[in-house]
Amino acid sequence: MKKKFYITTPIYYVNDKPHIGHAYTTILADVLTRFHKSQGQETFFLTGLDEHGQKVEQAARARNLSPKEHCDDLAPRFLQLWEKLEIQYDDFIRTTEARHVKVVQSALQQAYDSGDIYSDEYEGWYSVAEERFITETEKESGDFRDVKKLKECNWFFRMSKYQQKLLDYIEDNPSYILPEHRKNEILGFLRQPLSDLCISRPKERLNWGIELPFDQDYVTYVWFDALLNYVSGSGYLSDDKKFKECWPADIHLIGKDILTTHAVYWSTMLFSLNIPLPKSIFAHGWWMLDKSKMSKSLGNVVNPLDLIDEYGVDPVRYYLMREMVLGQDANFTMESFIKRFNSDLANDFGNLLNRLSGLIGKNFDGCVPEEGSLTDDDQLIKQAAEKLDKSVTEMVNQLKINDAIEAVLQLVRMVNKYMEVQAPWKVAKTDLSRAGTILYTAAEALRISAVHLLPVMPIRAQKVLDVLGAPKSLAQWGGLKAGTKLKEHEALFPRLEIDKE
Ligand code: MSP
Repeated sequence: MKKKFYITTPIYYVNDKPHIGHAYTTILADVLTRFHKSQGQETFFLTGLDEHGQKVEQAARARNLSPKEHCDDLAPRFLQLWEKLEIQYDDFIRTTEARHVKVVQSALQQAYDSGDIYSDEYEGWYSVAEERFITETEKESGDFRDVKKLKECNWFFRMSKYQQKLLDYIEDNPSYILPEHRKNEILGFLRQPLSDLCISRPKERLNWGIELPFDQDYVTYVWFDALLNYVSGSGYLSDDKKFKECWPADIHLIGKDILTTHAVYWSTMLFSLNIPLPKSIFAHGWWMLDKSKMSKSLGNVVNPLDLIDEYGVDPVRYYLMREMVLGQDANFTMESFIKRFNSDLANDFGNLLNRLSGLIGKNFDGCVPEEGSLTDDDQLIKQAAEKLDKSVTEMVNQLKINDAIEAVLQLVRMVNKYMEVQAPWKVAKTDLSRAGTILYTAAEALRISAVHLLPVMPIRAQKVLDVLGAPKSLAQWGGLKAGTKLKEHEALFPRLEIDKE
């Protein structure tokens, strides 16, 4: 049995239309999946929707719909967005599906039977907005709205029992929580006393959830339900073969705001269920709009759909992947989008294709010329192109996607400079065969760059390869065959005018 590279996104709350935060993580997961596929690995990519809990119930009520009607109405919008964004997920899980409900109930039963779940009366400060009990210190911080005193009988998961085990695990597995500074946050958190987790909500307060198998007056707390999607979506308790191929997940991609639930709740749940932990949890930063967090209440949520309609999906994917240093926040501005588009895509990448197809059209009847024998300058290009595979692989494996993209663009820029210096349009007048070698060298380097950009720009990088009549899988030198007729094409990335935009 061959282990698949298993990658997940968070499952998104269905309280509103999808926005750039959702789009970003899902594109990132798609880019990583395509990259691993291109390396010959089998992959499994899971995404989906978090449909239970108070937030969804409130959103449904505001629309005068039942929660299920509300979810059924919004779910297709996520699917449409994934289609527009060229997301090739393998499965899309909704937590209201029977396959998931079954797993949640048996996990609860298992934890209950092993003594990890107990009932207790609890009195404390409850934040309606956060849907959880908060500590005295949290209440005093003033960061929480809608706080009220609540006393109720609930069911608790013995999270504290696993505190030391989790601390040891994180210390023994340095790449379990990434990036490093987030790991340190979690270690700091775990060095304070850890309380048990309230995993139930009385039905009289919240009806929309999965009923506890051992107490029908309660539904399951939404996080205990949602986190289990990572195993219910990969065959746990339903398809042993699939689960063996997938689990442990290679990477859970999440945003920094949901790190505690993943690093602490999820890990201790897995300890209790005797399921191995995922290999790593990666928390990325937030997209900000002119330095303020994008949020619905601020009304500054950029709808990625609008950008795609205007500029195409590839530039949007490119921008989001190139501009965010994974682990840090990034600032979204229209100006930086246009600048990035013009410099990298129009001036560097797109322009190289235009120049090459123009010159090959004019001097070689549109057919790829013979490579001929290479000079030292040509060899430099060849060597840089040959080195790219190794460096891109290393960077992607360290989740330095922006650096990997920059490495490809550096090659593209180097080739544009090489063209300036070699001036094949002049050479062609006196030595056609030498001009052919220059054009072959540049076109082959462009082909290799396009192969490396395919995971990020699946449509337009493929278009470059189609124009060159070249295979997409071969990242080694020599994929381009002399005599191949280039296809006609329009400018792939026409420059955007900043004033007009
Ligand atoms: N349903 C939970 C996740 C459960 S996973 C078992 C949830 N959903 S969410 O829809 O509110 O958020 C999903 C993700 O979107 C989170 O990872 C969050 O960090 C991310 N983002 C929301 N806004 C964002 C930005 N502006 N920028 C980047 N990502 C942000 O939490």
